[in-house]
Amino acid sequence: MPSAVLLTGATGFLGRDLLKKLIEELPTQQTIYCLIRGHEKDSSVSDRPTETARARLTKLLIELGYERHDEPKVQRVCAISGDISHQNLGTQPSDYETLIQHVSHIFHGAATVRFDLPLPEARLINVVGTKHILDLTERIHASGQPIRLSYIGTSFVAGTRKGRILESDLTVEQSFHNTYEQTKAEAEALVRRAMSEKGLCATLFRPSIIVGNSKTGETSSFKVMYWPLKVFSRGLIPIVPASRAGIVDMVPIDYVTAAIWELSQRSDTKGGCYHLAAGPDSSTTIGEALDLAAAFFRVRKPLFVPIETFERYVRPVFNFLFRGKRRQALDAGRVYVPYLNYQASFDTQQVKAALVGTGIEPPLVTHYFERLIQFCVDSDWGKRDPSVSASRRTRQ
Ligand SMILES: NC(=O)c1ccc[n+]([C@@H]2O[C@H](COP(=O)([O-])OP(=O)(O)OC[C@H]3O[C@@H](n4cnc5c(N)ncnc54)[C@H](OP(=O)(O)O)[C@@H]3O)[C@@H](O)[C@H]2O)c1
Repeated sequence: MPSAVLLTGATGFLGRDLLKKLIEELPTQQTIYCLIRGHEKDSSVSDRPTETARARLTKLLIELGYERHDEPKVQRVCAISGDISHQNLGTQPSDYETLIQHVSHIFHGAATVRFDLPLPEARLINVVGTKHILDLTERIHASGQPIRLSYIGTSFVAGTRKGRILESDLTVEQSFHNTYEQTKAEAEALVRRAMSEKGLCATLFRPSIIVGNSKTGETSSFKVMYWPLKVFSRGLIPIVPASRAGIVDMVPIDYVTAAIWELSQRSDTKGGCYHLAAGPDSSTTIGEALDLAAAFFRVRKPLFVPIETFERYVRPVFNFLFRGKRRQALDAGRVYVPYLNYQASFDTQQVKAALVGTGIEPPLVTHYFERLIQFCVDSDWGKRDPSVSASRRTRQ
């Protein structure tokens, strides 16, 4: 019987947590294939080190705390060198055949999460990449084997819509803040079409903004929510184009991973779509989040002004005055502006109903926010080992 699992995006922020979950939870007879880009081919154009997919996996497993490769639960984790934007996932023919013959569940998380990629580039990875995953599910289905897809989308497929967004809502005929939102909406539409027209067995997960672990604050990524926080902690921009009431829906990675694991293993969730989000009851606002951060960093809160006022009067002055890091922050911050004024809230009725009785629910931001920021400080925003600062703090 085929019983292997394929995970894409294992080297990413969410993927590494998901890999750990799969290693811990799946029976050791089940092989876990990780589709990983080998960087050996593009070393001349990339600043990444020259590494094979296998070397990247080995390094990742060590980072996740799996030093011993002969342990059965670690031994069954295999790297498949590939790239989702290519036909047959850019894999060797023999590897693709192995996937067709053995995989019964695909966790597809690989994507570009950059907000500023040109549309064709973002489409190639997020839409065409997803199409190639769907092609694989068809090939597996055609070989007579069962196949299930757990697709990692995003709540932000809601684009520029306002108000309450249901888990069943999706349209690509609308405007989006950036190419990330648009291409993730297009990719989800492809998956939904395969479900309705070809009977694909899939479950859709739509996390909101994923942040670090709620118990330890640990994160391997300092993008999205962390970037504006870092700029704020350094007092680089004294006036921001934000609304105090702007909705901030964030969820810790341990909640997201636990929910994906639970819901991907049950048969009653086949065909479902779930907002892995704090939702209207537990999300916070820009004002509240910055109050918490200001108290932690002991810095003055920036002045909030409407976007139009900022773009018309403030940005030109800042452009004139700011140089170096401040100017970089001002320019790089453009992509985050829509999220400082967000007016959509992600309904969580279906996920709440599905998770009732499991004890899996998103904690309130106020319960873990300080731990998130403490980890940023201890790790100097990802630049050093956080345990050194943490142990120094404990000794004091
Ligand atoms: N982070 C969030 O707040 C958030 C919120 C909602 C939804 N999501 C969704 O969660 C998923 C993971 O996001 P993340 O934050 O973990 O992103 P991430 O840290 O940037 O990781 C992206 C992963 O995708 C892989 N990847 C990218 N292009 C690929 C390609 N062409 N072929 C094969 N692999 C490729 C990357 O591999 P390399 O290591 O080779 O680059 C990496 O493993 C995405 O689907 C995203 O839309 C994330």
